[in-house]
Amino acid sequence: MKKLTSALLASVIASTPLWADPVDDTLILNEEITMVTRTAAPAHMADVVDEVMSGWLFRGTETRAMQADDFDNPGMIFVEQAEEAWNTAEGSEGKSCSSCHNDPASMAGVRPVYPKFNEKAGEVRTLEMQVNDCRENQMGAEPWKYSGGDMVNMTALLASVSRGMPVNVAIDGPAQSTWEAGKELYYTRTGQLELACASCHEANYGMMIRADHLSQGQINGFPTYRLKNTKLNSAHSRFKGCIRDTRAETFKEGSPEFIALELYVASRGNGLSVEGPSIRN
Ligand code: HEC
Ligand code: HEC
Repeated sequence: MKKLTSALLASVIASTPLWADPVDDTLILNEEITMVTRTAAPAHMADVVDEVMSGWLFRGTETRAMQADDFDNPGMIFVEQAEEAWNTAEGSEGKSCSSCHNDPASMAGVRPVYPKFNEKAGEVRTLEMQVNDCRENQMGAEPWKYSGGDMVNMTALLASVSRGMPVNVAIDGPAQSTWEAGKELYYTRTGQLELACASCHEANYGMMIRADHLSQGQINGFPTYRLKNTKLNSAHSRFKGCIRDTRAETFKEGSPEFIALELYVASRGNGLSVEGPSIRN
């Protein structure tokens, strides 16, 4: 059993022995692709945990089953909507995504390596930033709202064609300073409850918190279709929700802080399969 990090945290977390660990189950997508939902922790985490685990392992039987079959996964409806958008010309250049990128399948392998340093722009880019860069500078179209419906649908499409591939973000070279900024945020205690991401997702995963089973807070499943709000949710929306729960001031979706945090959190899942769109509570 893991130790509690603070008295305040102890007040919101109650451990239930029966549930104290994730399930022992295997996610096989569409009876075809065996997903890696637990694996040895990446080297940079060697001091803190041995194994990294997908949030899928912390969900109930029915929720897990919904994600195993595309016909049962409500997130796939939004993927279909994005396929339409993919083929729709927009903006002053009269182009669609497909004009330059052919089929969405050509994007297989892209999701696992984002956020990623873009040489030309000299910045770490999230997938959302890259999509908007293409919209503005390749299509002459309006950028999409960072966590809006069109964008989250498109990132679901981009994730879906990489399902089963291992997350593999680079954390060294030109990405290193951003990664370190993200790591700093992950371990900084904030808010009235004085909790850091690590207080819950590193020190206490496996525990019950407000009737929910605490996972490692991985983002290999994003965007996630949440049963709670019946729509797709971006990683940044989830970060925001978690920070609000600690009663702290939060950052904006697409802010430099969340871009850095996303890179860091993604790197904590290096080796886990891309699952988006996943199903969560
Ligand atoms: C006029 C051509 C053009 C159009 C239209 C276009 N893109 Fe791109 N896209 C590019 C080019 C060129 C790159 C490489 C850019 C770079 O590396 O800076 C790129 C890169 C990308 C990448 C990153 C690929 C990687 O390997 O890192 C994604 C994701 C992407 N585009 C998505 C989209 C989406 C989604 C749309 C439609 C909303 C779109 N693009 C429309 C030309 C285009
Ligand atoms: C008070 C405890 C707490 C803190 C602090 C907290 N979270 Fe969470 N988080 C939760 C709970 C509860 C859930 C829902 C159950 C689960 O998946 O763990 C959750 C879910 C998540 C998920 C979704 C995981 C999935 O598989 O879909 C991510 C990602 C996440 N948190 C990231 C973060 C980050 C990043 C921070 C710090 C900015 C943070 N959380 C801080 C409690 C917390």
